[in-house]
Amino acid sequence: MAATAFCLTLPLMPPTSAFVCNFTDCQALVKFKADIISDPKGYLQDWNEANPYYNWTGITGHQSLRSRVIDLELIDLGLQGKLTRLELAVNYFTGKIPGELGALTKLEVLYLHRNCLEGAIPASLSNCTALRRISLIVNRMSGELPAEMGNKLQNLQKVLFRDDAISGRIPVTFSNLSQTTLLDLSFNNLEGEVPEELGKLKNPGHRPSISLITRELQACNILGKKWDLKDLERMLKPEAYHYDNV
Ligand SMILES: *[C@@H]1O[C@H](CO)[C@@H](O)[C@H](O)[C@H]1NC(C)=O
Ligand SMILES: *[C@@H]1O[C@H](CO)[C@@H](O)[C@H](O)[C@H]1NC(C)=O
Ligand SMILES: *[C@@H]1O[C@H](CO)[C@@H](O)[C@H](O)[C@H]1NC(C)=O
Ligand SMILES: *[C@@H]1O[C@H](CO)[C@@H](O)[C@H](O)[C@H]1NC(C)=O
Repeated sequence: MAATAFCLTLPLMPPTSAFVCNFTDCQALVKFKADIISDPKGYLQDWNEANPYYNWTGITGHQSLRSRVIDLELIDLGLQGKLTRLELAVNYFTGKIPGELGALTKLEVLYLHRNCLEGAIPASLSNCTALRRISLIVNRMSGELPAEMGNKLQNLQKVLFRDDAISGRIPVTFSNLSQTTLLDLSFNNLEGEVPEELGKLKNPGHRPSISLITRELQACNILGKKWDLKDLERMLKPEAYHYDNV
């Protein structure tokens, strides 16, 4: 009798070996955890492969696409990390970029392109002074560009903010992004004049270093330099972006 009962209940038990952390999002989270050096309250103890990732603290999985993370909430967990890369691009993240990311002062790469993120770019990201590359391409980011970024992010090389809904003027402080070789602000709702000082930005090779194409497809003839339309077209094609190489 006992054996029969056991057999009957077996199929109802959660499959213990079915979960394999072998897909991009899960691997990104595992890497993320590996870089956390302090987790005083043990929040990330359940981040292990014995437990499906969508049951991990702070993680929300996609309802039907069980391999995709849609939310990462690590607010006020007291985590300290030496995290240098956070790559959660091409995903289903919704909501705002948590301002707490500003605490990741060793962060060098922040790739959040192709999600459904909205709200303003948190000014606290200016505290991520090690940041070299940031991509928020194809989201729903709005609000103005945080002026502080220009003066504080002195290591920033690639700034990819195209295809969002960022408004306001381009802060003149962005001319102080002395390491920036690519600033892509195309397809946003920016207005006003392009600060002349942006001409200080580096322009390696023949690549246009600044892309400011408006929704109306008017290429700004800025900095007294006419851009090659072929370059602009190339930049318009999403596949022209090799995210791993930018
Ligand atoms: C992950 O592993 C499972 C089980 O072995 C397999 O069915 C699935 O195809 C794998 N997925 C990827 C993205 O490799
Ligand atoms: C996920 O966690 C909930 C409660 O926290 C638990 O009831 C459920 O069994 C867990 N699911 C898996 C697959 O571990
Ligand atoms: C960023 O730095 C400013 C001071 O420059 C500080 O007031 C703010 O709390 C910091 N934000 C974060 C998220 O660390
Ligand atoms: C650029 O940085 C320099 C040196 O820190 C500062 O004096 C200047 O005011 C900054 N320019 C702008 C436009 O913020």
